[in-house]
Amino acid sequence: MFTQALLTLSLASVVFSQSGPYGQCGGQAWTGPTICQPGWLCTPFNARYSQCLPASSTVLMSPTGTDSIKAAAPTDPPSTKVGRLPALGWNSWNAYRCDINEAKVIAAANQFVSLGLQAAGYQYINIDDCWSNKARDATTKRIVPDPTKFPNGISGLAAEVHALGLKIGIYSDAGTATCAGYPGSLGFESVDAMTWNEWGIDYLKYDNCNVPGNWSDSSTPPGGDWYNSNSAIRYRQMTAALVAQPQPIQYSICIWGNAHVWDWGGRVGHSWRMSGDSSPTWSYITSIINTNLAHLASIQFGAHNDMDMMEIGNGALTIQEQRTHFAAWVFLKSPILLGTDMSKLTAAQLAIIKNTELLGFHQDIAVGTPAAPFKAYSTAPTTSPPEYYSGTSSKGTHVFIINTSANTTTKHFTLSSVPGLGTSGNFRLHDMWTGTDISGTYEATSSFSVSVAAHDTAAYRITKV
Ligand code: GAL
Repeated sequence: MFTQALLTLSLASVVFSQSGPYGQCGGQAWTGPTICQPGWLCTPFNARYSQCLPASSTVLMSPTGTDSIKAAAPTDPPSTKVGRLPALGWNSWNAYRCDINEAKVIAAANQFVSLGLQAAGYQYINIDDCWSNKARDATTKRIVPDPTKFPNGISGLAAEVHALGLKIGIYSDAGTATCAGYPGSLGFESVDAMTWNEWGIDYLKYDNCNVPGNWSDSSTPPGGDWYNSNSAIRYRQMTAALVAQPQPIQYSICIWGNAHVWDWGGRVGHSWRMSGDSSPTWSYITSIINTNLAHLASIQFGAHNDMDMMEIGNGALTIQEQRTHFAAWVFLKSPILLGTDMSKLTAAQLAIIKNTELLGFHQDIAVGTPAAPFKAYSTAPTTSPPEYYSGTSSKGTHVFIINTSANTTTKHFTLSSVPGLGTSGNFRLHDMWTGTDISGTYEATSSFSVSVAAHDTAAYRITKV
């Protein structure tokens, strides 16, 4: 009896937690439902009143409407159930661009298992742009998966990916269309978030193409907080739609470093892109390291600067450059989404991306801060990017050394120069790449030297003896 009464009550609250067509769904002092039925969007008119309107009618809001929407924009924080650690996964874009289909995504999921990547911690299989039809369903306004590319829909694919113990991500855009011209989610946030939840989606990458003028930013927003910029509000509307779903969805903001995203990204999503697209070049790697270093203070549990998807396996990066690519994403705690056809990875490349100790630093459950540059010895030269980094993990203190020059070079640091090691005692060094201890012990005043190949990165853990 009691159980049945409880069940009836909770069913009733689910029904009543959604406002009907044209019903009020928000405003100052409003205590009723703030979510609309599928296909309807809670649209703020002013700070006192929001109403459920057909989702399609709200895309092109009048330019003069922006201020009132801004005043009543949702402030929901991202889910704390997911996204605490930087994501580890794969994304279809760098490997296949728009040439995607179910077979390629399933192949990637199976490779996670067969190549030992799942066992190493890789979890997300993410679909990028070009997965849907060009038009929404005329009646429900839902985005429709392309039936040729995805004959079992995204829900069928999600079920297969989940059956392997993995998670699945989807892609959309905080504008009227994606970069490749497929439906965007601006004005359709609620219906899209509900649809993805029904399909079993675990992760959303949300892009920034085709933004109407009244939703863009040409100057600093009033009050100076970019959280209140038109750009941030477009992303905040999706946060609210995502957190209203019963299952948590990790939220990756793709805004290319626009609108001072590092100042508000952590209040809106779990990670945020800092730049335009990655390329398999040494210049991209060095430039995005510098970009991330300018915003290290924004990184903490649940909030990560995104240096963009991996290029290991693509282009003509040397194996040393690929090691630096991986190590830098690791020690700066960027999401790591592999971006290649994994069937073509060599043993050397697999050894890089499966390195247990580097992944351990990246995925440390007790320390959320990244490594940061330090002065390795009193006369150490300044380079761009810096060459010496130190950070802590639950296993000790770590030093990462990038050789930014095009020649093999001897690098060295004084142990007492490493922040946190102190000026006395004896220390043991451990090579994180090989998983072996360096022989002997070092005093705080000792200098440690190592020959590092061009563009390679050495990685050490240091513990007190
Ligand atoms: C870009 C984005 C890329 C990819 C592409 C798809 O804006 O930065 O990572 O998602 O759109 O069209």
